[in-house]
Amino acid sequence: MATNGSADLVIVANRLPVDRAYDDDGTPSWRRSPGGLVSALEPVLRNNDGAWIGWPGGTETGLESFTEDGLRLIPVALSEDEIENFYEGFSNATLWPLYHDLVAKPEFHREWWDAYVVVNQRFAAAAAEVAAEGATVWVQDYQLQLVPQLLRELRPDLRIGFYLHIPFPPTELFSQLPWRRQILEGLLGADLIGFQLAGGAANFVRLVRQRVGHRTNRGLIDLPDGRRVRASNFPISIDSKGFEELARSESVELRAAEIRAALGNPERVFLGIDRLDYTKGIHARLRAFGELVADGTLDARRTVFVQVATPSRERVEQYRLLRDEIDRLVGRINGDLGRIGRPPIHYMHSSHPREEMAALYRMADIMVVTPFRDGMNLVAKEYVACRYDDDGALVLSEFAGAAQELRQAWLVNPYDINGVKSALMLAHDAEPRERTRRIRAMRKQVSEHDVSHWAQTFLSELADRPRQG
Ligand code: F6P
Repeated sequence: MATNGSADLVIVANRLPVDRAYDDDGTPSWRRSPGGLVSALEPVLRNNDGAWIGWPGGTETGLESFTEDGLRLIPVALSEDEIENFYEGFSNATLWPLYHDLVAKPEFHREWWDAYVVVNQRFAAAAAEVAAEGATVWVQDYQLQLVPQLLRELRPDLRIGFYLHIPFPPTELFSQLPWRRQILEGLLGADLIGFQLAGGAANFVRLVRQRVGHRTNRGLIDLPDGRRVRASNFPISIDSKGFEELARSESVELRAAEIRAALGNPERVFLGIDRLDYTKGIHARLRAFGELVADGTLDARRTVFVQVATPSRERVEQYRLLRDEIDRLVGRINGDLGRIGRPPIHYMHSSHPREEMAALYRMADIMVVTPFRDGMNLVAKEYVACRYDDDGALVLSEFAGAAQELRQAWLVNPYDINGVKSALMLAHDAEPRERTRRIRAMRKQVSEHDVSHWAQTFLSELADRPRQG
């Protein structure tokens, strides 16, 4: 097919790697949103005449493509209705809870699905327009699972990859989805489909066999038109070096000491940093900590818990309910157990720049990451990367993808409150030598498997896929 596109590598993601910012006089501009994905892909995009297609947030229309810091960005607009039905609805109130083990109940609404199809078509059309002949297009995440197939119909000459950042659920759960076959077929438009864990890839292959009837052999799926699709795991990571450098900077060290002093220089600081999401297990971990203070195992004069919860998807009902629940629990624990100037929990519902996150990681003795289900959990890896002093302790849910790599964490079942309490205490009481042994092994893993390694592995595997058609 003839194309006037010119990009040899196209990233298609729900969000652009920039946010809209407004000056005092209301003039809009773009501000980089520094995610690991951008830092990993930036060099590859620059070397390959690359482009990034995504939603800029909000409902602004008529935004032209633009170049920001040498990156070609192509905005895809969403209307107010589409934000409600595609983003808040089908993406975050159907797929998100369904793919996260039904931690919340997914809702199935036909008008949400219709919006999902329309928006996926828009992203596919934008990619078809910008991609050069024979280019590589890499589609990201659960919001865009129909794009591979839609794009292949428009541009059979392209090499198409897809990566799912969240878990891919067991067959029994996925099968509840009224549009399960369409989603499977949407994904099968890709040449290579990447998952965080081998289990997710296996779930997908099994579903394709059961529900679509294609022949499969381990991670390979043979389609009736002769195409062969591969499904495999590529655990995502972080910019480990970047985080370590930041952690080593003088300003971060000073800030870490300042935070600790502001907390009253306690003997031990526990830390949680999460998007305020019901999958993250924030409530359970604070309850466990509260019980340890209430029963006298921990002394609030000597120990504090700092919990940062980043605002997220605030118009979705389940997220609003969660916020109220956490507010109530923190209020109750601090009200019952706090003293003047000594609340056991310091709770912040706010976002923080990378520097502040690094300072928090530096000052915390015990990082607590207890999701009920999580694709990977990059906070756990960031904490490890920042502990260049070979000290610190990580309590980690066995249901986070990261648990498969960070085996030396204190692993917990977040549904087991007594188990969480014991793990918090084991990490709290661990001897320095034990902490060092564990964190050192995890640092090695995170520094050898960073986000560039992830991107390169996926892209080279995609490049090796035989030409289709
Ligand atoms: O973890 C999945 C994810 O979509 C991330 O890619 C993203 O940073 C986060 O959730 C927040 O998502 P949203 O775009 O809904 O704010």
